[in-house]
Amino acid sequence: MTTKPFNRTIAVIDQRPRSLPVPVAPVSGALDGQSTDTLGRPLRDLRISVTDRCNFRCSYCMPKEVFDKDYAYLPQQSLLSFEEITRIARQFISLGVQKIRLTGGEPLLRKNIEVLVAQLSQLRTLDGTPLDITLTTNGSLLARKAQALKDAGLQRVTVSLDGLDDAIFKKMNDVDFPVSDVLRGIAAAQAAGLGPIKVNMVVKRGTNAHEIIPMARHFRGSGIVLRFIEYMDVGATNGWRMDEVMPSADVIALLQTAFPLVALEAAAPGETAQRWGYADAQGRHDTQAGEIGVISSVTQAFCADCNRARLSTEGQLYLCLFATQGYDLRALVRSPKPDGELLEAIARIWQGRSDRYSLLRAALPVQAADGENTPRRVEMSYIGG
Ligand code: GTP
Ligand code: 5AD
Ligand code: SF4
Ligand code: SF4
Repeated sequence: MTTKPFNRTIAVIDQRPRSLPVPVAPVSGALDGQSTDTLGRPLRDLRISVTDRCNFRCSYCMPKEVFDKDYAYLPQQSLLSFEEITRIARQFISLGVQKIRLTGGEPLLRKNIEVLVAQLSQLRTLDGTPLDITLTTNGSLLARKAQALKDAGLQRVTVSLDGLDDAIFKKMNDVDFPVSDVLRGIAAAQAAGLGPIKVNMVVKRGTNAHEIIPMARHFRGSGIVLRFIEYMDVGATNGWRMDEVMPSADVIALLQTAFPLVALEAAAPGETAQRWGYADAQGRHDTQAGEIGVISSVTQAFCADCNRARLSTEGQLYLCLFATQGYDLRALVRSPKPDGELLEAIARIWQGRSDRYSLLRAALPVQAADGENTPRRVEMSYIGG
């Protein structure tokens, strides 16, 4: 298989597809947390992208060749306001959402993001408990923002970090950003009590796989959960190749050469990560040493109980990370329609959902997933991770 060259023409033209029409079929059942999609999956997790911009250029997400100075980022007026986001989030919660993740791009680039956190943290789940509110960040602005985020009601953060070696990390982020600043951000988040903190490392075979053991050694016993993510064929610009994916099974086998591990139960249904605990001399989980996770979206798809919806920066609802089209909730929220109509529209969209890209993808020949004639998938920086 050959790598496809980057296509600059595609990059500068806004190719975001027109939205899908909101289904008109009546909602079946009550509008509550019992609502499921066509595969019986409930709606529990809402990921909200608050900006399509980022100050990093990770090759697997926003390659420099495409996301250059000519790239058409969303204009300010396209972005949902914090009030619009909160109003939409409230409807999702009425349909059973219990966890909200703020993402980007880099969410800490969105001005006054802590004001949004403060609004969202007032919301309560259907059973009256606080939401699990978290945020995925590259850590570059975290040292400055951690305390304000905590004060606003953020519970925890997940920080992306692809290696401890400066040369490798700089190669991954492609903007010469040093590891030490991210580690300072993580320390500030820990000091502010934004835990349990997770660190996500995307593993690219041939680029940062030799950072797996140093990363595990660094975070073992720190209370931070390190997770290794298979490099995915998400979006349409990263030039993904299967031979750059390191299967999680290989990551676990490599880790076992340095630290014995024991498999742990999933903490929650529909979780992305498989959990492994560091073992003690008796082969039991050493809880002081902690745990790691592997996210195997390429080799072991976890669509079967995917309970995640994604709201793009401009208010499009996407039902899958690999979707090519979304539903325009911004048009609804900017119309004079009452909340009830917004709620019903979201319920209808969710009830019609059948997405399971990674599961179907696993059954396809490698080349077919990103073929010339397949519709263009949205970028992860636009709908969030
Ligand atoms: P926790 O609640 O903290 O466990 O978060 P999470 O694992 O649900 O979310 P996180 O954003 O940390 O996910 C980690 C990575 O898993 C993402 O960056 C993606 O690479 C991948 N991922 C998350 N959700 C999905 C999904 O729905 N489908 C696929 N294919 N990959 C996903
Ligand atoms: N494969 C896997 N994970 C990705 N992310 C972005 N692009 C990819 C990809 N191609 C995830 C990483 C990063 C988060 C912001 O998005 O986990 O930490
Ligand atoms: Fe930015 Fe995160 Fe994408 Fe890297 S993975 S370019 S840090 S949004
Ligand atoms: Fe969910 Fe789509 Fe990811 Fe499958 S590929 S787990 S359906 S977001």
